[in-house]
Amino acid sequence: MANRRSVIAGNWKMFKTVNEAEDYAVKFLEEVKDVTDLDIVLCAPFTALNPLKNELEESVVHLGAQNMSWADQGAYTGEISAQMLLDVACTYVILGHSERREMFGEKDEEINKKVQKALATGLTPILCVGENLNVREEGKAAERVSSQVVHALSSISKEDLSRIVIAYEPIWAIGTGKTASSKDAQDMCATIRATLNGLMGLGAEQVPILYGGSVKAENIAELLTEPDIDGALVGGASLDPISFAKLVHNAASVVTQVEGR
Ligand code: PGA
Repeated sequence: MANRRSVIAGNWKMFKTVNEAEDYAVKFLEEVKDVTDLDIVLCAPFTALNPLKNELEESVVHLGAQNMSWADQGAYTGEISAQMLLDVACTYVILGHSERREMFGEKDEEINKKVQKALATGLTPILCVGENLNVREEGKAAERVSSQVVHALSSISKEDLSRIVIAYEPIWAIGTGKTASSKDAQDMCATIRATLNGLMGLGAEQVPILYGGSVKAENIAELLTEPDIDGALVGGASLDPISFAKLVHNAASVVTQVEGR
């Protein structure tokens, strides 16, 4: 896992009211308050961010959003700016999630503008990439994922690139209970790192690459023993505070072992 920081990020998607989020935070913090070997992130719906800011203040848990606008401010009905996320203490933002690409028509060019805005304002983007089942069956998964990485990161300086996090999420594994095998996930994460290497040279070694798609407390350890998988983006299994805390602890024990080698 080289010298990279590991990241376990929960993606709540469109779940949890303010009360539910506050309740979750109290229970989750109690379970993970001593975990310092990796970065823990909760990516919550916009409405829950401000209440979570208060709950998570000065804790080990970082706050993230699930999307944001590339614009600074203005007549963009329904959008949320980077400044608004910073205002509620977000430090991470998921960008280009496959659900936004597939259901809301987000294209690489727009995602690139969002990644640039996040970096310019000091937010850490978690850039999501991943192929659908057809592309995988046609044997074009590596080509598709590399192309998504190159387009999303176009015109970004090497220095800024060293501040991103990438999440490889094969679409066929999201919410389906099907996890990519650790070997397939590792192979794609290595491809992503090679692509990054082409963009930024040796700095690619520092970029955390996460795997996402049906990650659970039971399979996180195996995934994290792979050399290019530095963490996970977790949807369904992040919704319950106690079982997500278990996943975090399972991840932390592998990270500690690998670091201690
Ligand atoms: P899942 O979702 O863990 O429920 O498969 C992952 C994601 O979409 O980020």
